[in-house]
Amino acid sequence: MSAHEFSPDEIDAVYRAIAARRDMRHFIERAVDADVLARLLAAAHRAPSVGYMQPWRFIRVVDRGLRSRLRDLVENERQRTAVALGEAGNRFMQLKIDGLDRCGEVLVVALTDGRSRHVFGRRTMPEMDLASAACAIQNMWLAARAEGLGMGWVSMFEPADVAALFDMPDGARPIAILCLGHVDAFYDRPMLEAEGWAERLDLERLVGRDGWPVPDTRET
Ligand SMILES: Cc1cc2nc3c(=O)[nH]c(=O)nc-3n(C[C@H](O)[C@H](O)[C@H](O)COP(=O)(O)O)c2cc1C
Repeated sequence: MSAHEFSPDEIDAVYRAIAARRDMRHFIERAVDADVLARLLAAAHRAPSVGYMQPWRFIRVVDRGLRSRLRDLVENERQRTAVALGEAGNRFMQLKIDGLDRCGEVLVVALTDGRSRHVFGRRTMPEMDLASAACAIQNMWLAARAEGLGMGWVSMFEPADVAALFDMPDGARPIAILCLGHVDAFYDRPMLEAEGWAERLDLERLVGRDGWPVPDTRET
């Protein structure tokens, strides 16, 4: 109990959003309200960031031609991933890995250019810029769920191709294609779990006391 805690209903709402958030790939074709989108972007922009560098940049993909070229890039990478997966490639190809076909909004998230001058918190771990941008995306994901919207993070693309498609400055690096929009229903568990691709690891096996946790045998 803390003097600073939220009310019980508010606490429940936070945990509910965390538990009910899903990576969504099935959408209904309906526009996302401009006010909601503005709130979600503001939520993203409130994320923590290393050295307060705020490395995230967002591109709204409104043009249908651009969306279609983006889909082609994802499809290319999907094929390459299937090959890289070897025996599991066929099973992988049965999975839906994005909602670009129907989602109301597409956002590309990129790390800004000129990041090397940000040394605070990144001298030994330059990837902390990526970690910061992931925090922004997670804020958006949770806020979207609370607003009743689904979101999916698509990372299957060649970053250089996406950077070229949007004429990003040298050094900028796309990290996510976000599919955002209305859904018929949220998956009640991760789609990859429902499809038998993977299952949630036991938390007890992931937390060590004074040392490395005992490995979960299902981890590959
Ligand atoms: C960094 C990151 C990249 C991801 N890329 C993809 C992707 O390209 N395609 C996809 O279908 N899901 C992608 N996902 C979603 C994961 O598959 C999903 O989070 C995981 O299966 C757990 O499901 P849940 O988010 O519904 O809990 C990504 C998630 C993260 C965090």
